[in-house]
Amino acid sequence: MKKILITGGAGFIGSHLSDLLIAKGYRVTVFDNLDPQVHPKGEIPGYLNKKVRFIKGNVVDYNALKDAVLANDCIFHFAAAVGVGQSQYQISKYVNTNICGTANLLDILVNTKHKIKKVIVAASMSSYGEGPARCNRCGIFKPELRRLKEGKIVRRHSYWEIKCPVCSAICFPVPADEKTFLNPSSIYAITKKVQEETCILVGRTYGIPVVSLRFFNVYGPRQSLSNPYTGVAAIFINRIKNNNPPVIFEDGLQTRDFIWVQDVAKACILALESEKSDYESFNVGTGKPISILEIAKILIRLSGKDINPHITYRFRKGDVRHCFADISKIKRVLGFEPEISLIDGLKRLVDWSVTADAGDRFDSALRELQNKNLV
Ligand code: UD1
Repeated sequence: MKKILITGGAGFIGSHLSDLLIAKGYRVTVFDNLDPQVHPKGEIPGYLNKKVRFIKGNVVDYNALKDAVLANDCIFHFAAAVGVGQSQYQISKYVNTNICGTANLLDILVNTKHKIKKVIVAASMSSYGEGPARCNRCGIFKPELRRLKEGKIVRRHSYWEIKCPVCSAICFPVPADEKTFLNPSSIYAITKKVQEETCILVGRTYGIPVVSLRFFNVYGPRQSLSNPYTGVAAIFINRIKNNNPPVIFEDGLQTRDFIWVQDVAKACILALESEKSDYESFNVGTGKPISILEIAKILIRLSGKDINPHITYRFRKGDVRHCFADISKIKRVLGFEPEISLIDGLKRLVDWSVTADAGDRFDSALRELQNKNLV
């Protein structure tokens, strides 16, 4: 029976992965610092599988991490600070946790005789920066990052969209495959790119099989609803649950690729169990884009509330306009197929949210971004 370590495993993706691993007969250890932003009570979350061996620890603590690594065969490296907006002003924290924490892990791996069989790192779609686009006249290209001003209210749709660098026409998003140039637009995205690249490089150098999974927008139960810096679906649910309108940046027509958390856990298992994944990067998404405004509308409808989304027509610095996945590689190489449709997933999310803890701290988080001139 293989022993699996999940750093950051008390978070929502890691906890679902733990369930699946345990159901398949693996022994799972979670190493997690129970960050108060995600776990306000500072306790092991009730949803964490009772068969998990839990170690409270931070990846920046070399010796604590080393003990955990040496006791296991394979590692899922999920520990990270994950807020795109917040990363733009908590630079030291994000670099420390995401880059230095990963450096600790790699340092341990190469300076011990204990042979780790596989490392799977949680990479992110955000490292692509702006997704590729197509101009009907000039063809497909990789857009530069948008240079928009914070604080400016603009209702004109064309202001927000990607334009062709040759003829200035408005362009259409096309899916990003794994060969797409990585051009991060936030500190968070830079740290995720460095995590992925350092892991693959060290893996290749020392013959430790490493896989990087570029997660797109993962949603599902156990996402920390009271964390105003978490992903947009959880933030919107929390707003609606507290009878407040979801606050929408830009004109709401920016798109993302939302994938159900248990589908992500299945992709993780495929990557763990197949040698075909070694030293490769894979997109983990659905390949289907949806606008942020549409997500807000569906969640409101499913919650049965009489609320309208509040569209701010303001830019949150560091955000990309469109990014969705080309998932042909993970389908072809690992046989991955997302199973839960967005509408079914959002229904389940709303059902779960009824009983979940949710204090609305969005306004203070927004004020923080405004004070830093990031919105
Ligand atoms: C998200 C995750 C990131 C992950 C990435 C993978 C967070 C905070 N970010 O980044 O960790 O690696 O997916 O794809 O979990 N928006 C609003 N109103 C809000 C919040 C967000 O309109 O209250 C908009 C944003 O401006 C953006 C979109 O929703 O256009 C998505 O934002 P967000 O959920 O923060 O996700 P990503 O930046 O895509």
